[in-house]
Amino acid sequence: MKRNITLVVLTCFISIIITSVSAQKKDDKQKMNMFIDKLMNKMTLEEKLGQLNLLSPNAKTGPFATKKYAEKLKDGSGGNIFSLSGSPDEVKLKLQLAENSRLKIPLLSGLDIIHGYKTIFPIPLGLSCSWNMPLIQQTARIAAIEASAAGYNWTYSPMVDISRDPRWGRVMEGSGEDPYLGGKIAAAMVKGYQGNDLTDETSLMACLKHFAMYGAAEAGRDYNTTDMSRLTMYQTYLAPYKAAVDAGVGSIMTSFNEVDGIPATANKWLIADLLRKQWGFKGFVVTDFIAIQELINHGVAADYKQAAELAINAGTDMDMVSESFIGALKQSVKDGNVTMSTIDAACRRVLEAKYKLGLFTNPYRNVDPDRAARVTLTIENRMTAKDAALQSMVLLENKNNTLPLKKNVNIALIGPFADNKTEMFSMWSPTGDEGSVVTIYDGIKKLNANVSCAIGTQISDDSLLLNYTGSNFDLAEQKKLVNEALELAKKSDVIVTVLGETKSMSGEAHSRTDISLANCQVELLKALKSTGKPVVLLVTSGRPLTIQNALPYADAVIEIWRLGTEAGNAVADVLFGDYNPSGKLTMTFPRSVGQIPVYYNHKNTGRPYNGERKRNFRSNYMDQSNDPLYPFGYGLSYTTFSYGNIVLSDTLLTGSNKILRAKINISNTGKYAGEETAQLYLNDPVASVTRPVKELKQFQKVFLQPGETKEISFDITPEDLKFYNSKLVWDWESGRFNVYIGTNSQDVTKASFVWNK
Ligand code: BGC
Repeated sequence: MKRNITLVVLTCFISIIITSVSAQKKDDKQKMNMFIDKLMNKMTLEEKLGQLNLLSPNAKTGPFATKKYAEKLKDGSGGNIFSLSGSPDEVKLKLQLAENSRLKIPLLSGLDIIHGYKTIFPIPLGLSCSWNMPLIQQTARIAAIEASAAGYNWTYSPMVDISRDPRWGRVMEGSGEDPYLGGKIAAAMVKGYQGNDLTDETSLMACLKHFAMYGAAEAGRDYNTTDMSRLTMYQTYLAPYKAAVDAGVGSIMTSFNEVDGIPATANKWLIADLLRKQWGFKGFVVTDFIAIQELINHGVAADYKQAAELAINAGTDMDMVSESFIGALKQSVKDGNVTMSTIDAACRRVLEAKYKLGLFTNPYRNVDPDRAARVTLTIENRMTAKDAALQSMVLLENKNNTLPLKKNVNIALIGPFADNKTEMFSMWSPTGDEGSVVTIYDGIKKLNANVSCAIGTQISDDSLLLNYTGSNFDLAEQKKLVNEALELAKKSDVIVTVLGETKSMSGEAHSRTDISLANCQVELLKALKSTGKPVVLLVTSGRPLTIQNALPYADAVIEIWRLGTEAGNAVADVLFGDYNPSGKLTMTFPRSVGQIPVYYNHKNTGRPYNGERKRNFRSNYMDQSNDPLYPFGYGLSYTTFSYGNIVLSDTLLTGSNKILRAKINISNTGKYAGEETAQLYLNDPVASVTRPVKELKQFQKVFLQPGETKEISFDITPEDLKFYNSKLVWDWESGRFNVYIGTNSQDVTKASFVWNK
């Protein structure tokens, strides 16, 4: 009785809170609407179009390229700007130009803050290997705190494009190949940037990109066509965008590619129907860089006026740099091709974003050089950057327990990336403070003074690549570099090499067909290995590389991606075992380019490969195994973990309101304390549409001391069994299911259950 009364009181209390929160929200919305109504009543068509115009100081494109951006800010024809540079004071001065415009509407001030502002964190692909949502959220929060103090209120991040093709240079900006993990990361980043309250001066409005399916560019060539079934779109590629929308992302950027034959920027189904109607997205949509103008090249518009009409009528609100909206839409309204209510709706959405950011009351969000200095590159920020770098590294090989190294060993540190600040960043960290980077050499020296360093090799001897980058390969120089490295190597106990690709070999417009380690780098490795000393290979890259050619010459391999400001400190801790590596791959490493696309959540096919290496009319290659070099979810530790059997709370369930508990014991069977990420995959072997062989549905991190065993449990509900059926309805079907739990997508233990509706 007493319990019942408590319950009733509690329920009443909660419903009062919910009612008052929603009343408050309604009230806020009403206030915002009244404010914007009043403002829009005063606005001319030109002024409205100005709000839809996004300028960049250095962009010289579009019909008004000759007029300076400062003039456009002053006269209101440019209502938003991105990539302003300079000190916080200088940025503020530029933003203040808008005060000259008739209505003095404040500006959205955007920037590509992709993996940190001044404190640079690992590239997103690297960071995703931490599988650590609070940490990922914290990196975005720090980026927002630093950038907002410097005059920015809008970031073009997170990039959540799923990709199964490491030839595509932009895989470095995303979180790999998995829709579930990608969705979790997308939501964490949105929360980190936007904080609890967008009006808070430390918040940035996030901009989800690139909507949509940009990561499926054919052949991994940037800006290329994408073409896929609706089922694959819904099941795989759209999931992270949807997760970010559900997390409340304020803005979305369209992608360069086409979707179902219509470029995303002009795709009504994508923007108006899917994003706005089906998903209920309330923010505004900005195009990517001159994407409206590119509609002409795509072949759906004859000129920039038609392009502008297609884009605005599809539901895009803001034109990045092409200035087609401001250039054409006045006439389009006169011609009756675009309605005034379409322009009004777009203008309203942009003004709403400014209102939600609090710009009408605090246009510069207290930009303040002192605050900027106080909150930027602080010890705490650097500690998070180090933590992020530690957790991003993935131990790929560790023959004979080569790692960790003893602190007193003599180390020959070899490679063009070993003592290089610039190369710890990426093409997407131009605002980072290079001077504050700890190089790998510096990091190691702090823990062990017995280290000497040599460059060892040029980056590449591939003439086509060199031709593109405008550099060349010098044979005599190479011999000299290798000899210097060998001299050091001979005097050492262990050789640590840092090889891979430069920061300008991945990122936008940096697709590659050969993603192996360059010949000259492998030749160096071979020479070093011939000394008989153990060789550790640290691979720095913006994508999974096909490193098979290097493996015979390395005893231990760590993928270090591009680790950012704290690279050297983090690498040193891992090398010496002060941190036991825990990263797990979020993108499959292929054996060769010929396997691409290779990903873990593939279909079974009618003729699945059975492991037989001869002509057997199965779905396999003659010259290569189907298996990747390293599967999704893979990553070693200095210790070893063993998994027991899966224990299910039930094996036959009926009804959708049940919970199935899967338990498993994990033991640390090695000598070091360490963290394991246990992964749960599900498979629906008989369904109305073909289903992947496995899909990640949950994961858990477990920290175990040597010899320790912990039981972990996962609760499975029908929500985990759902998929899009042929009518694109998200539902589950009765039947038998397989559940797998393990250390990566391949090494798993299996159990089965039947669940009927
Ligand atoms: C990229 C976007 C980026 C924009 C602004 C484009 O080329 O595709 O990701 O946000 O430029 O810099």
